[in-house]
Amino acid sequence: MNMAERLTIIKTPEEVFDIVKSLAGSIRADYASKDLVLIGVLKGALFFTADLLRFIGKDNTGPEVDFIQTACYGAKDEPSDKVLILRDITSDIKGRHVLIVEDIIDRGHTARALADYFKLKGAASIRICALLVRGKPGEESVKPDYAGLHIGKGFVVGYGMDYKERYRGLAGLHIIEDP
Ligand code: IMP
Ligand code: MG
Repeated sequence: MNMAERLTIIKTPEEVFDIVKSLAGSIRADYASKDLVLIGVLKGALFFTADLLRFIGKDNTGPEVDFIQTACYGAKDEPSDKVLILRDITSDIKGRHVLIVEDIIDRGHTARALADYFKLKGAASIRICALLVRGKPGEESVKPDYAGLHIGKGFVVGYGMDYKERYRGLAGLHIIEDP
């Protein structure tokens, strides 16, 4: 760890699991007899998507899972608002129910762009599940259908989330100071 980068834990691994289990319970009930495709947004949602899939999967089949990788880009030092697809899904989602699985909704560009994109691909319905949402309830840039935890300012790492490709493997959620 860089000496300047101090981490403060905000959720232990057990607390993260409790949040994910609770989200999975709601999703399982809502999509009980529906053809659901979970689409995890890489790389940040890698563990979240996997755990959600495990906790939802109460029967032999559970939902289908797919992944998409995105990047936000823009001029240097400007807020980037264009969403680039680096890796696309491979499943056919036409006429099926899609749940976008995001690590964190910050400015909401990724979630909005992906919802538009999956609509174009003919999804029957599109909802968003985010482990973290920046801003108080009612003040989010995009309000997810399933939200784990609302957070304020502060850059979060761990449980798949990175700072410069590091800290993804930390089991809990941490705020990194002086990133
Ligand atoms: P948005 O498009 O502004 O909502 O940003 C979404 C993406 O930015 C997330 O999926 C993350 O990959 C990244 N991001 C935003 N805030 C954080 C953070 O605090 N920690 C790690 N990644 C973040
Ligand atoms: Mg992400």
